[in-house]
Amino acid sequence: MAERTGLLENKVTIVTGAGSGIGEASAKRFAADGAAVVAVDIREAKVQEVASAINDSGGHAIPLGANVAEPADVEAMIAETVGQLGGLDVLFSNAGTIRPGTAEELSVEDWDLVMAVNVRSVFLGAKYAVPAMRDRGGGSIINTASISGLHGDGGAVCYAASKAAVINLTRALSTDHAGEGIRVNAICPGTIQTPPVKRMMENPAALEVNLAAHSIGRLGLPEEIAAAAAWLASDESSFVTGEHLVVDGGLRARSPLGRLADPRPPSKR
Ligand SMILES: NC(=O)c1ccc[n+]([C@@H]2O[C@H](COP(=O)([O-])OP(=O)(O)OC[C@H]3O[C@@H](n4cnc5c(N)ncnc54)[C@H](O)[C@@H]3O)[C@@H](O)[C@H]2O)c1
Repeated sequence: MAERTGLLENKVTIVTGAGSGIGEASAKRFAADGAAVVAVDIREAKVQEVASAINDSGGHAIPLGANVAEPADVEAMIAETVGQLGGLDVLFSNAGTIRPGTAEELSVEDWDLVMAVNVRSVFLGAKYAVPAMRDRGGGSIINTASISGLHGDGGAVCYAASKAAVINLTRALSTDHAGEGIRVNAICPGTIQTPPVKRMMENPAALEVNLAAHSIGRLGLPEEIAAAAAWLASDESSFVTGEHLVVDGGLRARSPLGRLADPRPPSKR
C-alpha cells in the first residue's frame, strides 16, 4: 500500500466494483489515505483478495459480496457498514457493466441488465446511503459515469444511455441533499487500462484509435481515477457538488481535427 496520507482519515467508505480495475485501485487508495473501506463486488472472492492485500499492508478493509443492482443487497451493504464501522461517510458507486451492440443487435434483456447495474445501482446506493450519511451530519457520494455519457458513442448504446443517466441522476441527487451536507458528484473516465479494456485493446485498430483520441498520448491508469475519487471523497472538495469530473487525458477537449493547419501562406510560416 502507498504511504498513508491522512486525506480520508477517520472516514468510513464503501467502494463498489472493488474486485477489479478502478474500484480495486480506489479501495486501495482510500485505505492508503486513511479510510476504513468496505470493498464490495458481486465476485466475492475478488474482494476478499483486495481486502486481504489492504489489511496485510496496514490498512483497514472489509470484503462484502453484493449485487449492486439488487435492492436487498444494497440495503444490507449499508446496514453492514453502519453496523460494523459505526456510520458511513463516503459511497463510491463504481460497479458497472457494458454490453456491446447497436439497438438492433442488443436484446431487451441487455438493456435491462446494463440499466440495472449502471443506473439502478446508483439510485439504490443513494436511497440507502442518504439516511446513514444524514445521521453523520453529511457525506460524499461519487458515481462512476463515463465520457460515453457525454458523447454519442456508437457500438454500446445501452451503456452510453446508462452513463448519461448517471450524470443527470448525480445532478438531481446533489440538489436534493446539499442542504443535508451530502455532496454528490460523478467521474467521467476516458479509456482506462482495466482488465476489460486491456482485452478490448488487444485489437490493434482499437488501440490506435484510443491512443490518438487522448491528447496525452496514452490510456489512463485506474490509479488516476482513484486519485480523483479520493479528492471528491475528501473534505478538500467541500464546495463541489452536482459535478461530473472528466478525467480523460484531454479526449473530450480534443477536436476531431486535432491541431488546425497553419493558414498563413507558405512564405509567411
Ligand atoms: N475502464 C474504462 O475505460 C472505463 C471508462 C469509463 C467508465 N468506466 C466505468 O468504470 C467502472 C469500473 O469499470 P472497470 O473498467 O474498472 O471494470 P472492471 O471490470 O475492472 O471492474 C468492475 C467491477 O464491477 C463488478 N461488478 C459488475 N457488476 C456488478 C454488480 N451487479 N454488483 C457488484 N459488482 C459488480 C465486477 O465484478 C468488477 O469487479 C464501471 O462503472 C465502468 O463503466 C470504465
